[in-house]
Amino acid sequence: MSEQATAAGKTFVIKHPLIQHKLTIMRKKDTSTGKFRRLAGEIAMLLAYEVTRDMPMTLAEIETPLAKMQAPVLKGKELVLVSILRAGNGILDGMLRLIPSAHIGHIGLYREPKTQVAVEYYFKMPPNMPERDTIIVDPMLATGHSAVAAISRVKEQNPRSIKYVCLLAAPEGVQFVHEHHPDVPIYTAAIDQGLNEKAYIIPGLGDAGDRMFGTL
Ligand code: URA
Repeated sequence: MSEQATAAGKTFVIKHPLIQHKLTIMRKKDTSTGKFRRLAGEIAMLLAYEVTRDMPMTLAEIETPLAKMQAPVLKGKELVLVSILRAGNGILDGMLRLIPSAHIGHIGLYREPKTQVAVEYYFKMPPNMPERDTIIVDPMLATGHSAVAAISRVKEQNPRSIKYVCLLAAPEGVQFVHEHHPDVPIYTAAIDQGLNEKAYIIPGLGDAGDRMFGTL
């Protein structure tokens, strides 16, 4: 993992060889929908491992077949995975394989084509958010508009903490998120060159939602 800390915020690039290899296969234009979806899930699972490293722990008394002991368990209410629709759902399942008891929130946002501004059409979070840590997921951090809008909305619920996870980021998006939400760390598998005129990440992997759901 390499950490890029700017004055504005922190980004963790998870350079595990398995993640990098899987991401390269996802990038290839000839990778099929099924394979793309499976790889997105596998990378998401590996990112979930990294992003949960510092989850708060406590001790609970348990009984093994031989003795009582104080054993480490996760502290507090289950965390919340917040999926930015629709592509976020493509990495949600992979993260849930590692954190099966997580609660799920959804935010529906679309990019207004002319301005690239994020417009909200759906928002639903679990109860008791002030007692929960949250991880917002969306495979592509491009302009950062959706990410900033999603983080702002989740912050209205006062969760205990917020982290942001994506498969791939553009430097513009990373900077935009850090400028608006310096307290929210970003976890990603790679940061690419930049955005093209249509706000796609270059070299990127194309439209993640379309490739995941076969809607090209
Ligand atoms: N969303 C995508 O799916 N791909 C990009 O390159 C940028 C935004």
